[in-house]
Amino acid sequence: MRDESQGIDDGIYRDAPLAIRALTPNFGAEVVGATGIVGNPAWLSKVLNQLWFQYGILLFRDLDFDEAAEVAFSQMFGELEIHGRQDFNSKTHPQLLYVTNRRDLDLPADALSNDDLEWHTDQTYLPRPALGSLLFAIEVPADGGNTYWADAAAAYDRLPGEVKQRICGLKAVHDHGKVTADYGLKADEFQRRRSARIESHPIVRTHPITLRKSLYLAPTVVTHIEGLPAAESDALLTELTAAITSPDLVYQHKWRPGDAVLWDNARVLHRRDRFPADQIRFMRRTTIRPPAEISIPF
Ligand SMILES: [Fe+2]
Repeated sequence: MRDESQGIDDGIYRDAPLAIRALTPNFGAEVVGATGIVGNPAWLSKVLNQLWFQYGILLFRDLDFDEAAEVAFSQMFGELEIHGRQDFNSKTHPQLLYVTNRRDLDLPADALSNDDLEWHTDQTYLPRPALGSLLFAIEVPADGGNTYWADAAAAYDRLPGEVKQRICGLKAVHDHGKVTADYGLKADEFQRRRSARIESHPIVRTHPITLRKSLYLAPTVVTHIEGLPAAESDALLTELTAAITSPDLVYQHKWRPGDAVLWDNARVLHRRDRFPADQIRFMRRTTIRPPAEISIPF
């Protein structure tokens, strides 16, 4: 007699090709198994896009990307942007931004930092900031150089009601000149023109895909909150930054070569630890644009 539960050869694969492992109780997941799937099929793109917005950050391990493969993998998440610091980009795949202290890649001196990089979310100084960033580790230092992500949506959810009311409708001013000055970066002409306009964005942002509310701040570039006296603005920014970066809302990642992390810039902030100058950290990043119609933070 035929056992209906076993041995049915209908061509459908029954072992789960993918699994997830939570990185924290609140957000972040490692996607296990994605490495073995060849050709970035449409079903994989659909699953990963859903997980990206569900978890805020996705970790993939043991990837063996050359530049073309990294670009193709990233394209599953949307249109890629050529980063404004064009002199940091790969010459053959300009969608890839080098984030490294390697000195043999013909990069400008200010690209080579091994310093801390304070809390921020990418490109908030632009009118239409990137929705996603994917950072791939090729070589990592033995000490330091960890990246941290903080869940600003969970931080918003647990604010007291009166704080939510107070910040509703407020906008923060995001000025690229602040990070340039603080970190001694030499913005090239393209980047200067691109970020010349000073942007303001809502402090409480509605996610363009999930419609979930989140705090939206980047302490590296935010100078003040519009319409508030300076002392009040400073105090509120400090309070909200502390809420976002509360240790129980932070995931710390110790990189291994072959790791890639994709994050949702509309939901999480990130920062980096310094590492010893005599150790090499070599990462490549792709930057993912949101669909144009929903690209201005609201
Ligand atoms: Fe960043």
